[in-house]
Amino acid sequence: MDEREYRHDRARAEELLELATGIAEEAGQMLLAKRPARPEVLATKSSPTDVVTALDRAAEELIRSRIAEARPRDAVLGEEGGDTPGEGGVRWVVDPIDGTVNFLYGLPDWAVSIGVEVDGEIVAGVVHNVPRGELFTASKGGGAWLRGERLRCNTGVPLAKALVATGFGYAAGRRRVQAEVLAQVVPQVRDIRRGGSCAVDLCSVAAGRVDAYYERGANYWDHAAAGLIAVEAGARLGGLNGRPVSPDMALCAAPGLFEELHDLLVPLDPERD
Ligand code: IPD
Ligand code: CA
Ligand code: CA
Repeated sequence: MDEREYRHDRARAEELLELATGIAEEAGQMLLAKRPARPEVLATKSSPTDVVTALDRAAEELIRSRIAEARPRDAVLGEEGGDTPGEGGVRWVVDPIDGTVNFLYGLPDWAVSIGVEVDGEIVAGVVHNVPRGELFTASKGGGAWLRGERLRCNTGVPLAKALVATGFGYAAGRRRVQAEVLAQVVPQVRDIRRGGSCAVDLCSVAAGRVDAYYERGANYWDHAAAGLIAVEAGARLGGLNGRPVSPDMALCAAPGLFEELHDLLVPLDPERD
């Protein structure tokens, strides 16, 4: 890529990031203003514990309408509204509330997550942890940022001293396997955190609030934006055995710890369910 192309791509990523950030902030304000003391479950999805509230849908509708106003040709993939095709190679990947169970219970870690792909690659991402008022951003090649400070993940942490975030799926059978795997991981690491939002967990890796994250079953919209944030903060993101991150496995940590955690997980066969 020559210098001119590089500058063009960087400028486009920054422009998309600015738009995504404004939209995530607006959705966050709406969610804070409208969140009742006890949000009601509107429907369940993959299992009785996989819930959707009216505000998950309202936030996604708001985000979709803002994208359509600003960039009517773009495609959108949203957790609640599915895939809307577009033209021109830009696709927005939206989780209107990542951490819906936290949102339901009034716990402070839930986030609006918006990633933007150009030709299939995420080039901009924003994760707005609304209750904490934290806006994590990244653009490809432009670093990861929080409150004007550049983020760097922790480096040089051995597995035995690593604070490891993880999550569980919604299906009982998968959870059984996840608990079995976790039982083998806990004795080998500093401790485990289950925060309740994949996007926030990955931003925590980026900010050095945890050392690593792994989860089986995370969807693309969970990690699209936050994965870029973690990578731009110096972390490695992938699956097992050289595969890319996918719903099979998401693993994220600084190089070195990534491999150590990987080598602990592989013999435990975490993808067996
Ligand atoms: C969930 C959260 C959770 C993770 C689940 C996700 P949702 O997303 O990210 O931390 O463990 O795998 O499905 O349902 O709150 O949008
Ligand atoms: Ca999610
Ligand atoms: Ca969600």
